[in-house]
Amino acid sequence: NNIWTAGKSGDDVTTTKRKMRSSEWFGKAGKDGFHRRSWMKNQGLPDHLFDGRPVIGICNTWSELTPCNAHFRVLAERVKRGVYEMGGFPLEFPVMSLGETLMRPTTMMFRNLASMDVEESIRANPLDGVVLLVGCDKTTPSLVMGAASCDLPTVVVSGGPMLNGRWRGEEIGSGTHVWKFDAMVKTGEMSLDDLADAEACMSRSVGHCMTMGTASTMASMMEALGIGLPSNAAIPAADSRRNALAHVAGRRIVEMVREDLRLSKILTRAAFENAIRANGAIGGSTNAIVHLLAIAGRIGVDLTLDDWDRLGREVPCLVNLMPSGAHLMEDFYYAGGLPVVLRELGENGLLHRDAPTVSGRTIWENVEGATCYNRDVIHGFSAPFKAHGGIRVLHGNLAASGAVIKPSAATPALMIHRGPAVVFEDIDDYKARIDDPDLDIDADSVMVLKNCGPKGYPGFPEVGNMALPAKLLKAGVTDMVRISDARMSGTAYGTVVLHAAPEAAVGGTLALVRSGDMIELDVAAGRLHLDVTEDELARRRAAWRAPEAPAPRGYAWLHHQHVMQADVGADFDFLRGASGAPIPRESH
Ligand code: FES
Ligand code: MG
Repeated sequence: NNIWTAGKSGDDVTTTKRKMRSSEWFGKAGKDGFHRRSWMKNQGLPDHLFDGRPVIGICNTWSELTPCNAHFRVLAERVKRGVYEMGGFPLEFPVMSLGETLMRPTTMMFRNLASMDVEESIRANPLDGVVLLVGCDKTTPSLVMGAASCDLPTVVVSGGPMLNGRWRGEEIGSGTHVWKFDAMVKTGEMSLDDLADAEACMSRSVGHCMTMGTASTMASMMEALGIGLPSNAAIPAADSRRNALAHVAGRRIVEMVREDLRLSKILTRAAFENAIRANGAIGGSTNAIVHLLAIAGRIGVDLTLDDWDRLGREVPCLVNLMPSGAHLMEDFYYAGGLPVVLRELGENGLLHRDAPTVSGRTIWENVEGATCYNRDVIHGFSAPFKAHGGIRVLHGNLAASGAVIKPSAATPALMIHRGPAVVFEDIDDYKARIDDPDLDIDADSVMVLKNCGPKGYPGFPEVGNMALPAKLLKAGVTDMVRISDARMSGTAYGTVVLHAAPEAAVGGTLALVRSGDMIELDVAAGRLHLDVTEDELARRRAAWRAPEAPAPRGYAWLHHQHVMQADVGADFDFLRGASGAPIPRESH
């Protein structure tokens, strides 16, 4: 599908009339301009680049410590080609890069820090527009949050998924097969040698996780929000069309600066509603909930957890991708990608068709001609992959401010369940006891994990999909109800209740659960209930003591002081909102 139309104003580079923000740096005569231009010229930049043309920042999360984004230097060069073609002046700069697989205690702890880096870097520099190069899970929300607080014209370019994993004739998915293989090692169906052999076969090209995990979900969210170009979600990182997309994005950002098409004109309530419904239709990651709530908080859209429930409820899951289904992102692209999904939503009354996008057209204009080439990968509304795709928000005394579950990744038979709690006080307690043969647990038990929320771990890690006890795996149990204040990897699956708020570490009712208490889950009714009397809970609450703060100084201290709860997106209280990009006072 030829869906990129950037360049309709051709190569007419003489039309810039509006005074650029950057000219406050580069446009001055005498000493003030000398400072700004002379040092830049040490890079071999000729005079004409400082003539008042749009200066485009390319905000790069390239890092060898973030393997999913390690190919981004090439991508940045392609963006520059587009910017130059349209008469802009591209300047690439690095920001903190959050690599999901290496950073401890969890990348989520640093999402807000990276967003501050992005926000301050944009505002302090002579930039008129920005291209955000994102890929691995947290790199997307952190850059968009920072850019939203500045509100310049902005285009997101995702780095693209890896090629499908392939091992001994089988397609294997990032993350998803790690969980599967881990269970097989525990039951003796797989050897450690075979597991090691699968490592290089799972990650066999540049790019991010190629399941519908958090990275692919967030890349899809960028496209559905209208701040990424059509097909941003699915083109594999190794496919030459990913570079072409970056090139076109470079052209569009220059036009957007001339049009003054700021982020706030695109990130409206309608855009968020489109994204929430798209998340349901793709069977997207639960992590999108906290990230979109946080982005909305920056741009001033009053989005709530219950919006996710209300808007997602009637959306069927159309996309048959791991972890909810069978295929991978490469297949999704060849089947037509997200434009097909958005077209389905639009034809069934579930898309705000007039929402503007960075392509310069409305979202409907972007997708109305999209064609599906494989209905086993992208189903239609008439025969959806799963009837219920959206996120369900649960309320009850165990989650006064809400908890979430992803029905498409859960076991239907467990969606209504009553069982006795098996409580783990924290992740170390879980690790120490889960495979103890004497642990009193069976398939009807409800596994409860405490102290893994935003303040608790600290940093809100992806540990909510606790692996089942080895003795039950060996007995053939494949799923159990699990409840925590943690997140879970977008590549994971199971009947897993997440993001319980308020979290245990701030004294939420979750902190008061004891082994043997009966817990009731009713997903259809949106109910999560701890069957313990109010009097007994009051007694336990009086005896509860808050865990110690994780650190007396530094960023961990700042995080603990200011991080908000999951139900509002776990941003810092002092970062909500935007400050725009007024020109700061002179540095000399
Ligand atoms: Fe980077 Fe999955 S680890 S996207
Ligand atoms: Mg993840």
